This record gives sequence, structure tokens and C-alpha cells, in this order.
Amino acid sequence: MAVLVTGGAGYIGSHTCVQLLEAGYEIVVLDNLSNSKMEAVKRIRELAGKDFDFIKGDILDGELLDDLFKKYDIDSVIHFAGLKAVGESVSIPLRYYQNNVGGSMSLFESMKKNGVKNIVFSSSATVYGMTDKMPLREDDPLGALNPYGRTKLMIEDILRDIYASDNSWNVILLRYFNPVGAHPSGRIGEDPNGIPNNLMPFISQVAVGKLKELSVFGNDYPTPDGTCIRDYIHVMDLADGHLKALEKLSENPGAVAYNLGTGKGSSVLEMVAAFGEATGISIPYRIADRRPGDAPVSYADPSRAAEELGWTATRDVIDMCRDLWTWQSQNPDGYGE
Ligand code: UD1
Repeated sequence: MAVLVTGGAGYIGSHTCVQLLEAGYEIVVLDNLSNSKMEAVKRIRELAGKDFDFIKGDILDGELLDDLFKKYDIDSVIHFAGLKAVGESVSIPLRYYQNNVGGSMSLFESMKKNGVKNIVFSSSATVYGMTDKMPLREDDPLGALNPYGRTKLMIEDILRDIYASDNSWNVILLRYFNPVGAHPSGRIGEDPNGIPNNLMPFISQVAVGKLKELSVFGNDYPTPDGTCIRDYIHVMDLADGHLKALEKLSENPGAVAYNLGTGKGSSVLEMVAAFGEATGISIPYRIADRRPGDAPVSYADPSRAAEELGWTATRDVIDMCRDLWTWQSQNPDGYGE
């Protein structure tokens, strides 16, 4: 029995693959390498000390998927593959709908055809839309605010509809809060294309000297220090959550969503301070305008995952910053060309 991991060469996928292999799972990784590198695949093998089949290909390729389901004895899928940049999704929405929604439909179609009905899907806290009510709970109203978020919400809806039509499916939707950090070895980590959009990769590139200073997007929010608050979660904790979700599938949970967050919010300036504390590097920053679309505060109520998956995040912001820095300092250019 094997687990098909789509997008397994990416940031969260690569960390999850290492843990799956270490836990004794057989995996098959499918990735089109549109936002990841073969070097990551090599390093997954190196870290886990195990081999696995890697297929460079696209989830939009139904024939390729059918071949994979025929060739391997796959019983579950962890579906990471997708485009993930909010700003880009606003400029090229069709590509996001095509790739994320179209690609997921192609994957689910092939799963159905081949009798594979177990899936863990990478959703996002972004499906909660804008709300003041914190912490966010899984049964809070949903409503995404940009094309990227809408693709995540549509895929969730599609999976809920598939389950409603056939209760023998097992569907777990993992709503990630803000994934940061890296494998403590520094061998795998986040490798964004170009200038990072997200806070922590930006900070680590300032620290390594690739960027001059951080722009803090707004310090007049209704928060204690005026900067936005997020629920940062270590990517290793997130990877653990996928293993727990995979175990849960065997209990026929239905179609169920889980928040993967720590339940603790940290402000932008607190993250700058945590990075300084963890690494001894003080990050130069200036206060800039607010970034359109940013919620002032967002953090999870992670209690459902604790109760039903037996999962809680164990790593704190210092761990996140230290491990991020180990990765960034050892790989100033990420995985390179
Ligand atoms: C963003 C996406 C979210 C996605 C998530 C993936 C938006 C509006 N949201 O979340 O949909 O699921 O990434 O991790 O893009 N900040 C700065 N300076 C920077 C970068 C960020 O001050 O150079 C601030 C932001 O204003 C925000 C916080 O840092 O308050 C976190 O930003 P970011 O890392 O981009 O994550 P989100 O916006 O929470």
C-alpha cells in the first residue's frame, strides 16, 4: 500500500514526505516542479535514508494519473499540489482556477475511476475570509476574498459534495494557518521564487543579506503593538498533522475539516523580535503602508485537531525562527538552479 503525494517536492510536501518515510509509509510523489526543485526530492531521500518513486508530471494529466493508480497499490492521497500566491492569483485568476480547481477535479476523477477514496487535502485558514471573531473554529462561516482563497474553498466544497454523493469516501481538509520554519537539519525548507511575499522568508532573506530591510505593512491596526497578528506554525508540526490525518482516514471520519495552528497569535514585530532572540540577528525594518486585504488578527482554535486527531503543535516561535535560519544560512539561494 502506498500514499500518493501530489506536490511532494514543495515546502510542506517535502517535510511531510520525510516524516511519512520515517514512519514507514511507502510513498509515490507526483510534482510538476513548477515551484519546486529536483534537489528537494534528492534531499528528502537523503534525510529519510529511503528511496521512493518520483514522477515529474501534472495533476491535470488524467492519463498519467490513471497510469499511476494502475501501476502502484495506492490507497490514499495527500494532495498538496497547487499554486499559492495570493497577489499572483489576482492577476492571473484563470491560471489559478485551471490549475488548482481543474487539477483537483482531474485528480478526484482519476481517484474515483480507480477506487481510491481516501484523501487529505491542503486547505488554508484563508477560507474563513474576513472576520473579527477569534479564534477561528472549523464551523465558522466560510468565504474567501481572493482567487487563491476561492480555489481552496471550491476544492473543499467539491470534496464535501463527493462525500455527500458517496459516503465511502474519507476526506480530511487541513486548514493551515501560517506555516514557517524548516527541517531542523537545514537540508530542506521554503524556497520562494523571487522576492518573498510572506513575512518569515522575507525576514530570513534580510538576515542573509539578500534584501535590505523589512517593510512592516501597517502599525495602526487595532492590536497591542499596531501590527497584524497571525498564528505561525512550524512546518514540522504541520507535517505531523498530516500523519495524524492519514491515520484518521482509516476510522471513516466522513468529510471533516481541521485547523492546524498553534492557537497563539504573534504580531509582525513580535516575529522580528523572536528572530532576533533565536539567531542574534537584528532585522532592520521600516513601517510601510498597510497591505490591501490583510486581516488585523487571525489565529486558530486548534482543539478539534487535538481531540479528534490527537495532534497539537509542540514547537514555538523561537524553534520556528532558529530552524528557518539554519535552512536560510546554509542555503542562501535555496535549492539553487
Ligand atoms: C498569506 C496569504 C494567505 C496564505 C498565506 C500562506 C495574503 C493576504 N494572505 O497569509 O492567503 O494562505 O500567506 O502562508 O497574502 N508582512 C509584513 N511585511 C512583509 C510580509 C508580510 O509586514 O514583507 C505582514 C503581513 O502584513 C501580515 C503578516 O506579516 O500581517 C503575515 O504575512 P504573510 O506571511 O504574507 O501571511 P498572511 O498574509 O497571513
